[in-house]
Amino acid sequence: MIADFKGRDVVSAKDFKRAQLEELFRAVDDLEKHHGSLEGALKGKLVALLFFEPSTRTYSTFQIAARNLGMKVSGFSDAGGTSVSKGETLHDTIRMFEGYGTDCFVIRHKRMGAARFAAKIADVPVINAGDGSREHPTQAMTDLYSIRKAFGRIDGLKVGILGDLRYGRTASSLVYALSNYDVEISFIAPESLQIRPEVEHFLNERGVTAKKETELDKVIGGLDVLYVTRIQKERIPDPTDFERVRGKYEVNLEALKDAKPSLKILHPLPRVDELSPDVDATNYARYFTQAAAGLPLRMVLFTYVLGGVS
Ligand code: NCD
Repeated sequence: MIADFKGRDVVSAKDFKRAQLEELFRAVDDLEKHHGSLEGALKGKLVALLFFEPSTRTYSTFQIAARNLGMKVSGFSDAGGTSVSKGETLHDTIRMFEGYGTDCFVIRHKRMGAARFAAKIADVPVINAGDGSREHPTQAMTDLYSIRKAFGRIDGLKVGILGDLRYGRTASSLVYALSNYDVEISFIAPESLQIRPEVEHFLNERGVTAKKETELDKVIGGLDVLYVTRIQKERIPDPTDFERVRGKYEVNLEALKDAKPSLKILHPLPRVDELSPDVDATNYARYFTQAAAGLPLRMVLFTYVLGGVS
């Protein structure tokens, strides 16, 4: 199964089957039990982190993961200081880094499909760290891993996904990954930010039960997982549309009064005002543990893709 990952691109969460995800998650469990077991596993390999969009967690976890594995790290976290600001194309940037002996690319870009495009150019694996509003597959893997860790399973759970489902790439990738499991999904969003038709269509084809709601209180009592997302201000074309939806949802203690005691709240972070800090101290909150899981998950993924572990 590890062989399925070797040398491949990680562009879309759609590309991974349940058994492959499970294999990955078991390896992350092992790493969490035996910290340091992958120390230096990819010694000498070179990764280029090309982040054309802002990032905190994703950039740092990929960077720390690579260093823990003994890799050399190149690239940038702010394209403003590079020749991109002079108009250099993504094509040329990739070709150039390949010339420096890059073994793997991790790319975040505001353009949808940028990672797929990069994967076509590069001869080495490309990992999508977020492309516009389309996908963020390693976040989805982290999210699923966190759900599995919280409940010991994913099958049978009722999952609510709330916020900006139209422009938020973590929501689409999570949905694709969840479609491998027997789950019931509720999409909770204002009409204008509801899940995109292509994502819904994919779910229908997979036979996953999903419904759309506009109000959290209609569904909160039945949920096992509530996945909260930020309204993607920078991706909403018309600022007046943003003003219309901003502050529409705030998950706070009042909004959670009918929640099951076992409910777990996840959020890819960063949060703005959609998730109150008052929730942090409750047993519902899993988002900081979730963020931390991104590190071992990305370490294992690197070793799988670059073939450091047999
Ligand atoms: C998300 C992203 O960049 O898509 N952040 C992350 O990687 N954890 C979520 C967001 O920006 O809202």
